[in-house]
Amino acid sequence: MPDATINPARLNRSLDELGRIGDTPDGMQRMAFTPADLAGREYAMSLMRRAGMEIRVDPGGNIIARKAGSGFGLPAIAMGSHTDTVPNGGKYDGALGVMGAIEVAQALADQNLSLKHPVEVLVFTNEEGTRFHRWLFGSRAMAGLLEADDLTAVGDEGVRLSARLTDIGGDMSRVQQAGRSPDELAAYFELHIEQGPSLHQGGTPIGVVTGITGRWVFGVEITGTANHAGTTPMSARQDALVSASRLVLGVQHLASGLEICRVGTVGNLQIYPNTVNVIPGRVSLGVEFRDLDMGALSAAEEEFRRRAAQIAEADGVTIAVKRFENTQSVPIKSQMQELVAAAAARTGLAYQRLPSGAGHDAQAMAAITDAAMIFVPSVDGVSHAPGEYSTPEDCANGAQVLMNLLLLADERL
Ligand code: GLV
Ligand code: MN
Ligand code: MN
Repeated sequence: MPDATINPARLNRSLDELGRIGDTPDGMQRMAFTPADLAGREYAMSLMRRAGMEIRVDPGGNIIARKAGSGFGLPAIAMGSHTDTVPNGGKYDGALGVMGAIEVAQALADQNLSLKHPVEVLVFTNEEGTRFHRWLFGSRAMAGLLEADDLTAVGDEGVRLSARLTDIGGDMSRVQQAGRSPDELAAYFELHIEQGPSLHQGGTPIGVVTGITGRWVFGVEITGTANHAGTTPMSARQDALVSASRLVLGVQHLASGLEICRVGTVGNLQIYPNTVNVIPGRVSLGVEFRDLDMGALSAAEEEFRRRAAQIAEADGVTIAVKRFENTQSVPIKSQMQELVAAAAARTGLAYQRLPSGAGHDAQAMAAITDAAMIFVPSVDGVSHAPGEYSTPEDCANGAQVLMNLLLLADERL
């Protein structure tokens, strides 16, 4: 197997440069389909071009950069992640996987190494799903996992996802053609920051991911009665925000008190009419539960709906619960874990096996190919927040493991 080394300084420079696109004092604002997202994608494509790769955008808006292999008719080994961020997000989530993959491709080109398999770098559309409540959009399109609701999704601002897709070079009317068949791909590798505290706390530079958590997302509408905040007696109110508050505490209790599932969060809340002297007549909430065990998610849903009904009855409000997303958890095959472990060992780095609490494009790609993930430490476990940080050394370690993983896979797959 040939030796090839990535260039740590160049990798960290490109991470910094991408991190300036959409940066604000309150963190990264490179949400999918925004001008900053488009600029981030352009930046990634400029680096892909420099690495001598051929680039296309599929109908799902995914960027696919490809370098031919020397073997005849072999499937491609793909590496990638996403460049969109959550609002007020960090500079490393997704970005490391894309910049790391491009660095690997550039380093191969510098060292005049071509592999037997074609190599692809993938940038997936709207991984975060912050907009349109449709996450992993691009990777699900590539894996043939889109649902009817994806095609007709309308964002909170009333804009159609199909229109936004056109802005980035996609085409909803042909989106099924973004689907790829398993024989086009030999494997998919994603380098990512851990986004949790385990590696940082343990002082371990590399994580070998064992599985990716499932996530169920619910939209909840609570309807009470808007009325005058000064004249309506406390006993005569149907305050939708008071009921929402009980439901928020119910979500917390269900995960942290009863431990029905691993985590539960209400991360989104809108109050109507949202003015200080009117009793809130309506509140909408976004709720998610995550666990590796799908049985735990069913149990969480059941308990959540039971509580919502109880609160509605007690408070005299109506509570409508709609499930937006239902993403299955995905185990990473043991041979793929072994390959990542071998790549870490070859790089001379200690590793630890751990599950991913966050969702990733790899979980969709696992439906059509063997997927594997490499984690690097997140300082203090901070992510989806402006303080998200991974050291330049850890980022470079991750990219070198990705390089060695690719070289091993080229030999063994
Ligand atoms: C995706 O980043 C997630 O929310 O896990
Ligand atoms: Mn991510
Ligand atoms: Mn994320």
